[in-house]
Amino acid sequence: MAVVLKSHEEIEKMRRAGRVVREVLELVRSHVKPGATTLDLEKVAEARLKELGAKPAFKGYHGYPCVLCTSVNSEVVHGIPSKKRVLKEGDIVSVDFGAVIDGFYGDSAITVPVGDKIAPVTEKLLRVTEESLKAGIAVVKPGATLGDIGAAVQQVVEAEGFSVVRDFVGHGIGSQMHEEPQVPNYGQPGKGMKLRSGMVIAIEPMVNIGGPDVRVLKDGWTAVTDDGSMSAHFEHTVAVTDTGARILTE
Ligand code: MF3
Ligand code: CO
Repeated sequence: MAVVLKSHEEIEKMRRAGRVVREVLELVRSHVKPGATTLDLEKVAEARLKELGAKPAFKGYHGYPCVLCTSVNSEVVHGIPSKKRVLKEGDIVSVDFGAVIDGFYGDSAITVPVGDKIAPVTEKLLRVTEESLKAGIAVVKPGATLGDIGAAVQQVVEAEGFSVVRDFVGHGIGSQMHEEPQVPNYGQPGKGMKLRSGMVIAIEPMVNIGGPDVRVLKDGWTAVTDDGSMSAHFEHTVAVTDTGARILTE
């Protein structure tokens, strides 16, 4: 499978999916508070998605059971919403969400603090991870390479003493949630595939306070840090245009 370039019309469909993703994520953000369960967040998202007339991207994907991934603290990605998972003051929760409209996908993630008593290092983790995503997006233009994106993300993260997860990467996206190419959050400037106008990619840094290693729990989905350190995740779906990046999920 090669990279699939998107037409203007297809990118407009992806923008519609991206708007739905943004609206649902912001609604979910407003429901993150101490005492809420991750299943509460799932229900909020599923109800709003239905109202907006879009389909979930994740539910049913390789048997994944929910519309959201909710990954708390040392959970990196793919945490499954559960009524047993009660959010508490000082936690962070990554909320990852994808939607499909007219056969085209949008995919985005945010990591949200729970309550207002967040440890300074945790606050820094959120800030640095979001900044690393912005740095990766900032280098996107025709002729730039995947290595340029990875290097930009990695530079921001490692300059602050945190580490980039290697075992999961971003991806091309379009009429499939996962298309070529893979988009690592590490790399060397000038290396890797060149970006072209019409490519659409999901850039999604996963950043740990401690080491980069992760493992998957027995549920077959939840990825956690090996050392138990906190992890954050931010993601946008981004189109490569003649003039640079267009973020489709903002
Ligand atoms: N944003 C994640 C990804 O790009 C969401 C996939 S979760 C899954 O892989 F449940 F759908 F697998
Ligand atoms: Co993704």
